[in-house]
Amino acid sequence: MDSTFSTESTINQTFAEDVRQGLTSDPKFLLSRYFYDAAGDKLFQKIMELPEYYLTGCEFEILQTHWSSILRQMDGLPFDLVELGAGDGLKTRILIRQFLAQKADFHYLPIDISGSVLAHLRNVLNEKWPELPVTPVEGEYFSALHEIDRLSDRRKLVLFLGSNIGNMDQERAAGFLQKLRDRLHPDDLLLVGFDLKKDPEVILAAYNDSQGVTRDFNLNLLRRINRELGADFDLSAFRHWPVYNPLSGDTKSYLVSEKEQTVRIKALELEVPFRKWESIDMELSKKYDRPEIEWLAEHAGFEVENWFFDEKQYFADVLFRAI
Ligand code: AVI
Repeated sequence: MDSTFSTESTINQTFAEDVRQGLTSDPKFLLSRYFYDAAGDKLFQKIMELPEYYLTGCEFEILQTHWSSILRQMDGLPFDLVELGAGDGLKTRILIRQFLAQKADFHYLPIDISGSVLAHLRNVLNEKWPELPVTPVEGEYFSALHEIDRLSDRRKLVLFLGSNIGNMDQERAAGFLQKLRDRLHPDDLLLVGFDLKKDPEVILAAYNDSQGVTRDFNLNLLRRINRELGADFDLSAFRHWPVYNPLSGDTKSYLVSEKEQTVRIKALELEVPFRKWESIDMELSKKYDRPEIEWLAEHAGFEVENWFFDEKQYFADVLFRAI
């Protein structure tokens, strides 16, 4: 099994309509899922290496420390290691390396919306561990999980790492987990990476780094709209403005228009007026506490099997068991 399955056909067509909807709404917004074009992928890689962006290092530490407890949950039986939003699979390689060393019987099925990312990942893994069966599945998570269920009846350990769940509000996260639960079987496991509430200064610095990489990451979406939809956003007229709300745990990023201006988007035949200091809501990165995580699990039909923390307790990988 080493071909790539494609279940995605509409992502590019909906980009234009999502941009239209976001920029004609009040308040204006853009969907952060569109950050990840080729340049956005590179900028996100850079973010993960920033000293201020503690999330990646914390999750590395967790996986390096707790891989054996995670593997023990699979009871020595064959299983599928499924990863939602695999990216470069760097963190997962920690698990793969250790699982193979323990002679665990598993297949790795990374899911991603980017076919090129998956092709690269498969090549890297094939070269490193030719004995590991890798089946990349290209597409959106739920259709891909449906595809996987058709391919295999092994028990699943699904990974949803990197605080990706934080890019949804809590209600959407609950709906997402519920939908995910519907695609799983009782006793399947889901390992979810949650960034935790902590010193607000630490959180804010992670989204307002001193090198300006996170600013460029946000502005890159305007650059993408310019390129793909023939728009004329002047990037220098927008300011990156992240804020953290310690009560809700919401970290929000905005792009604020520093002047009154009108942006033309040719492909949409649209003119978008901005008032001075009007902003575009760009991204939510929600931070969680334990009761909220327990609520999510219960609400979605899981029980919390285990909590894994880094030493500073900045981040948690939480193992949910489908009930
Ligand atoms: C992908 N996601 C979990 C990142 C986050 O922390 O919300 C994206 C990101 N945005 C700014 N920095 C990183």
